Amino acid sequence: MGDDGRSGPLDHGTFRGHPGPTRYRDVACGRVDGDWTGRSVQLAGWVHRRRDKGGVKFILLRDRTGLVQLAFEPEHTPQRVMEAASSLNPEDVLWIRGDVESRPPEAVNPDMPTGAVEIRVREMEVLASSDPLPILVAIPPGEDLPSEELRLRHRVLDLRRPELQRNFVVRHLATNAARAALARQGFLEVETPFLTRRTPEGARDYLVPSRIHHGEFYALPQSPQLYKQLLMVSGFDRYFQIARCLRDEDLRADRQPEFTQIDVEMAFVGEDDVFAACEQMLVDMYAVTLDRAIPVPFPRMSWAEAMESYGTDKPDLRIEWRIHDLSEVLGGRGFGIIDGALADGGRARGIVVPGGGSLSRSRLDAINDMARAAGARGALWLKCTDDGYSGPAARAVDETAGARLQAEYGLSAGDLLVLVAGPDSESSPALDVLRRQLGTELGAAGEGEHWIWVTDFPLFEADPETGAPAASHHPFTMPVDVTAAELLAEPFAVRSRAYDLVLNGTELASGSIRCHVPELQRAILEVLGMTAEQVDARFGFLLEAFRYGVPPHGGFALGLDRLIAMMVGVSSLRDVIAFPKTTAARGLMEGAPSAVEADLLADLGLRLADAGGADGD
Ligand code: AMO
Repeated sequence: MGDDGRSGPLDHGTFRGHPGPTRYRDVACGRVDGDWTGRSVQLAGWVHRRRDKGGVKFILLRDRTGLVQLAFEPEHTPQRVMEAASSLNPEDVLWIRGDVESRPPEAVNPDMPTGAVEIRVREMEVLASSDPLPILVAIPPGEDLPSEELRLRHRVLDLRRPELQRNFVVRHLATNAARAALARQGFLEVETPFLTRRTPEGARDYLVPSRIHHGEFYALPQSPQLYKQLLMVSGFDRYFQIARCLRDEDLRADRQPEFTQIDVEMAFVGEDDVFAACEQMLVDMYAVTLDRAIPVPFPRMSWAEAMESYGTDKPDLRIEWRIHDLSEVLGGRGFGIIDGALADGGRARGIVVPGGGSLSRSRLDAINDMARAAGARGALWLKCTDDGYSGPAARAVDETAGARLQAEYGLSAGDLLVLVAGPDSESSPALDVLRRQLGTELGAAGEGEHWIWVTDFPLFEADPETGAPAASHHPFTMPVDVTAAELLAEPFAVRSRAYDLVLNGTELASGSIRCHVPELQRAILEVLGMTAEQVDARFGFLLEAFRYGVPPHGGFALGLDRLIAMMVGVSSLRDVIAFPKTTAARGLMEGAPSAVEADLLADLGLRLADAGGADGD
């Protein structure tokens, strides 16, 4: 029985490549459809739910493919089996043999792919019984899930939930589609080492002490960045890898310490070639996995435009509101906060929030707090009403300013204007937060998917603490039109050929055309604070390879976990990773990290600074 294509690949109980017959079963539970009527089958699976109705017992038997109803009826089922069925518990593992019957019309369940049939059980064996469950697998509709901590502790059971299993079906289909799409475009899949040396991607490394070389450490790769570039020098032309990356960084819902990238590198390319390869891969992934077309080519927006109009390098374009520079309209009107900010070289930037006048006073008061939490000194607001303006910024709006706000920025009665005065480094993050927060509260986010390439990043950004130059993408990115001397003299003025792919405000992929010119590469590393000796010690292997004929090259890495989370519509990467870590970087089920025996440490030449400190936190 092949896939009959009656229902999409995401429908419960159906997907391509379902498990075939084995010694224990003739067909998978979710595949017993009307074609099996009148036949005897053996099935195996877990007891999902039990229901007793009069003298008849019904059991929903579950496997990865879905559910099928078993009926235990006194007139067909031997007494011994009836009795055994009475003592079954949820999640017992069963083998049964029975006859596939059509259900009477009133008992047909159109929501279940197997809803037209049931199995009249004749024989049954409990292959394994289940202890009472610490968390339910069959959670009744409308009931809350157990706490995430409990579910992560009992991940094996939680993973049995059909909703989670579905996420992994999507992940599997999407990953296979990516492989096929890249192979079709001439990419070769090549594996790169896990035990490597430090590669700067902006996070801390996980280090592995060497037993043979005491005092030396391998680093687990934050990404295969340098290896993939070296493969270009080796003439592989097009490389990809479904690559595990390991980064010891602060975790959030969209960040895991171990995650997966679709990692890609191409020789003899410019931005257009890389974008086209990535877009084609995504088109194929969406078509195969979700049977959906996505609109390519994706629009592009410069980093400068993204920062100016949305205050972030990952704008969520489902919300149309833009940030405007209102310095000229509102400045010089005797309003101290604005005039002071302008005098200090800052600007007054703001967002017109259509319908924002309806926000309650407490929400309006919260605007200031939201801006402060985002690092600004505060935010001002004003309401536009039929009778004029009210709110903390109203004093800055005289008749001329009011007329300009209405004519040029569309502010009208019922709207709100939110303002942040100060340097862009404060107003951008604050207005980004306010835009997204108020946009969500007021239901301003439209439907649909807004894909966008953000391009022309600066090569360096100032480290927020020290002000020193830090790579805004990574140090292996090609600068735009600059000599090594110019780069060293004025690093912050240099643009780069880096790009990000953003979907609805989430950074899905990131990449660049690489710096394949050794002098420029040295200059970049020098700006980052490395001496020539340090550059040679850490990156000599890369720079040496570049001396023997390096093709121009570039690529990208797409966060697979993030893409799958978007595809299935969940906000936490933990729902698309089989055995994820908590935000405290712990594996709750297996208990990782864990202390190790002293003799293992001794083998590695290590001693703990404080006893008992090996357990992480
Ligand atoms: P970058 O560090 O931007 O680039 O990573 C690329 C993409 O990987 C995803 N990602 C993550 N996903 C889950 N958890 C994390 N902790 C995490 N960190 C990153 C994001 C991100 O866009 N070597 C370069 C790529 C290149 O230049 O080709 C790199 O790794 O979706």
